[in-house]
Amino acid sequence: MKGSLKFIGSTVGLRACGPRQGLKLAVLAIMAHAPSTFAAVKPEVGFGLPRDVSQNGHLIDWLMNITHVFNIILFVIMCAWMAIAIFKYNQNHLAHYDHGSSKHSVTVALAISAVIFFVVDGNLFVNTISDLDKEFWNFDKVAADPRTVRLEINAHQWAWDARYAGPDGKFNTEDDVVTWNDIKVPLGTPIYVQLTSTDVIHSFYLPNFRVKMDAVPGQINRMWFQAKEPGEFDIGCAQHCGTHHYKMKAQLTVLPADEYKRWLELVSPTAKRAYDPDDKAAHWGWDWKEVY
Ligand code: CUA
Repeated sequence: MKGSLKFIGSTVGLRACGPRQGLKLAVLAIMAHAPSTFAAVKPEVGFGLPRDVSQNGHLIDWLMNITHVFNIILFVIMCAWMAIAIFKYNQNHLAHYDHGSSKHSVTVALAISAVIFFVVDGNLFVNTISDLDKEFWNFDKVAADPRTVRLEINAHQWAWDARYAGPDGKFNTEDDVVTWNDIKVPLGTPIYVQLTSTDVIHSFYLPNFRVKMDAVPGQINRMWFQAKEPGEFDIGCAQHCGTHHYKMKAQLTVLPADEYKRWLELVSPTAKRAYDPDDKAAHWGWDWKEVY
């Protein structure tokens, strides 16, 4: 707890470093926040979930929408059924009582339950498995794509550190670009994330991308996403992780590919200069995990 509190109010790992080092890191932090040229962020309008800006978000949205449609149909049928019962079985109708245990009652109840189960839950089950298999958990496809950008993310109370491999393509080396609560990714490119936590369980959540993944201490989890729109989007923590859980918010900036490349070229040399071999806490990266 004490160690992680050091992060509050710091920037790009300003903790445990001298004034010179601090200045370098501050420059890096400013450069990392260099303004971009894309148009203003579109405001969120209407009801429902935040705008979907991802390649695969529509799969999640479709599942939720179709499940709502099923629920509305069932709701209307139930209401109609009750209305019929109220008007048909009035004071002119002699009531018959039973325990609902007759063969007819049991058969009708089972048949209705089976239809609901297989149509509503069955649809969710089949499509979820298929979506995970073809897209959300299809890491072979993402790993094989030469454009894929790999990111390591370290969650801690209460911020997100992100690590880019830098020009050498290897993680946890001196040219890594490390950012704090600020992740920049290129547009239309698969972003392959491996993540862990240094303290408690957090959950990396991108509402505009319909993806989230738990960050668990002692374990490297993975997820991927692809943006289809440039802009600035929220990163949230979706797992209650302590008193400042609600503040564990960061920004995901989707840049056009050439702008992303320029940003990386801008920060890479500074990242290398800012590298401190003695700051062991800053070397939280790991060799990219190829086998799961
Ligand atoms: Cu981290 Cu909630």
